[in-house]
Amino acid sequence: MRKKVYVKDLHLHEDKEVTLQGWLYNKRSSGKLWFLLVRDGTGIVQCVVSKADVPEETFQWCEKLTQESSLTVVGKTIREARAPGGYEIQVKSIAVHQLVENYPITPKPHGPVFLMDHRHLWIRSVKQTAILKIRHEIIRAIRDFFDSRGFVLVDAPIFTPSACEGTTTLFETNYFGEKAYLTQSGQLYMEAAAMALGKVYCFGPTFRAEKSKTRRHLTEFWMVEPEIAYAELEDIMALAEEFIAYIVQRVLENKKEELAQLERDTAPLEKIVPPFPRLHYDQAVELLKKKGIPFEYGNDFGGTDETVISNAFEKPVMVHRYPAQVKAFYMKRDPEDPTKALCVDILAPEGKGEIIGGGQREDDYETLVQRIQEHRLPLSAFEWYLDLRRYGTVPHAGFGLGIERTVGWICGLSHVRETIPFPRMLYRLTP
Ligand code: 4AD
Ligand code: MG
Repeated sequence: MRKKVYVKDLHLHEDKEVTLQGWLYNKRSSGKLWFLLVRDGTGIVQCVVSKADVPEETFQWCEKLTQESSLTVVGKTIREARAPGGYEIQVKSIAVHQLVENYPITPKPHGPVFLMDHRHLWIRSVKQTAILKIRHEIIRAIRDFFDSRGFVLVDAPIFTPSACEGTTTLFETNYFGEKAYLTQSGQLYMEAAAMALGKVYCFGPTFRAEKSKTRRHLTEFWMVEPEIAYAELEDIMALAEEFIAYIVQRVLENKKEELAQLERDTAPLEKIVPPFPRLHYDQAVELLKKKGIPFEYGNDFGGTDETVISNAFEKPVMVHRYPAQVKAFYMKRDPEDPTKALCVDILAPEGKGEIIGGGQREDDYETLVQRIQEHRLPLSAFEWYLDLRRYGTVPHAGFGLGIERTVGWICGLSHVRETIPFPRMLYRLTP
């Protein structure tokens, strides 16, 4: 049997006969030759069919072949400088598995709703596969970063009895007659795990019933959340900075071809090296004022505000110490100004907005009880969490990075819907 070869490995088989299995991407003819572009997930290769070299039947098949027809090609790998990828196949035979009729996505432009309705097919296109490969690289970089720094991966539950990030975006489920919610964040569990293991992280899907239709919000998204015992706000800011720079470098190093397929200008990404600018909330408000943006001191930043702040810098900007009243119940207050929380949001450059949220956690039992009550959260659901402040409490801190917003920024996409294989949004549950 001939060896099955993937397009990305063709350079290892120069002048050898190979078997490729894939789908027809496009084709053109010039009389006695057919040029078939065949994709197999790892790349696209031009397969040249010459009337003189193949059985009559094979040449007739080329006439009939349609976009996305599945086929096995046997032929010789030839070095060809002009071909994309540097190699092409001189075809000996073609076996067609299925001749496709009326593939819905044609080379003509389609609207976003049509493409999203056909997401299961759309992911076969060059740009979408490039995004998915970059997403994979980002996830690998994330794991490598924490694994090589002594963090232990701890999985957080998906069904939870309580809210972590406010009660307005909870997805409620019926858990054998009791209320359970899809997790908004693994953080509270990572706090428990950090007291057991020191440095931990979780990585998994999280859910928010976001009723707003924006370019940045999904109802189901993936988040990585490191948490460290004996750490303060400054420690996790330094970690986050190193972390983001590492992810960007990895993509620049390992996904050049995919970035080119996306026509991503890599110059702004080359600049992502520490240190990142740090901005106190008050300074961020000043900046908005200077830019003529109407903003009421004490509020959280909206999407437009974030874009304006982010646009003022070439690197991710770390905005710290927001008013405690706009942040979650678990945040520790700044001892120097108790109206502020010891928190940080990191806004990606090029106007992209928040990709990381995190900070130092309230570690005092009495204060935490008070916060839970102020936020009108049910104390009983947090009894286990309060145990962490009863038994060996220490300063601790962590953050959450949203995978999709990170993919969107690095790939240079304007909408988060293309950053996840099958997005879930306010009006989208299919495919
Ligand atoms: O700022 P958030 O809400 O922070 C937390 O959940 C903390 N408990 C994390 C922690 O400290 N362990 O969310 C963190 C990040 C955001 O910066 C954003 O990147 C992403 O998660 N995110 C979303 N991404 C897509 N769609 C949404 N609806 C998102 N909500 C948050
Ligand atoms: Mg946030």
